[in-house]
Amino acid sequence: MKIIMLGAPGAGKGTQAKMLSEKYDIPHISTGDIFRGNIKAGTELGRKAKEYMDAGALVPDELTVDLVMDRIGQSDCEKGYILDGFPRTMNQAQKLSEALAAAGDIDVAVNVDVPDEAIVERMSGRRVCPSCGASYHVVNIPTKKPGICDRCGASVIQREDDRAETVLKRLSVYHEQTQPLIDYYKEMGREVDIDGTQPMESVFAEIVRKLGD
Ligand code: AP5
Repeated sequence: MKIIMLGAPGAGKGTQAKMLSEKYDIPHISTGDIFRGNIKAGTELGRKAKEYMDAGALVPDELTVDLVMDRIGQSDCEKGYILDGFPRTMNQAQKLSEALAAAGDIDVAVNVDVPDEAIVERMSGRRVCPSCGASYHVVNIPTKKPGICDRCGASVIQREDDRAETVLKRLSVYHEQTQPLIDYYKEMGREVDIDGTQPMESVFAEIVRKLGD
């Protein structure tokens, strides 16, 4: 099954993609995580991507598209995959459709819908583990010990791009460049809307139900 996750920054795409990846045993491919991994490793790609990410802008398509195409061509993607954070522009969606033309495109685009007010609250409360990648929220999904990752014991941090002014910029980029993809996949008959304001287990249950399993 080839799934893409659509939704505003902070809508819960990553949280749901991880759960779906476990359920369906297919890889979770997050372009944001790939870029953050490159930043941490100090690569040239990471250096270039950081400039855009810290400003709340999109990383240019020429740095993004080939990276994803290479990744989905790897052997662990034969059974399918979950793309989280890609495509994010109409050009990226068209490039993906071209690449998948022989296979009949993606199976489903899961649109996790959350209003902007809730997004700002979620992002300002998000804390992530820089060591193992686990994600928390100071109120909704707190760590058991304050500030310490439940999974690996490292100190959790706030993402650089979760500062209030950057969040507003990311939201405006989302509405302008990514939201139109909802109609692109709707016209293809492959889009499902999910109420992302529910508790995360209920969001997951709704997605699984709409995927027909
Ligand atoms: P990326 O890492 O993809 O960020 P994003 O899309 O902005 O999404 P987030 O990771 O912020 O949020 P999410 O929807 O995954 O929510 P999460 O599950 O964490 O991209 C970062 C940057 O990289 C971009 O700005 C861009 O610069 C660049 N980039 C990436 N892909 C690109 C591309 N294709 N092209 C160009 N540039 C690209 O949840 C958020 C919070 O809410 C967490 O604290 C979580 O615990 C909590 N939460 C989750 N679900 C619930 C729930 N149901 N109820 C209450 N709280 C919840």
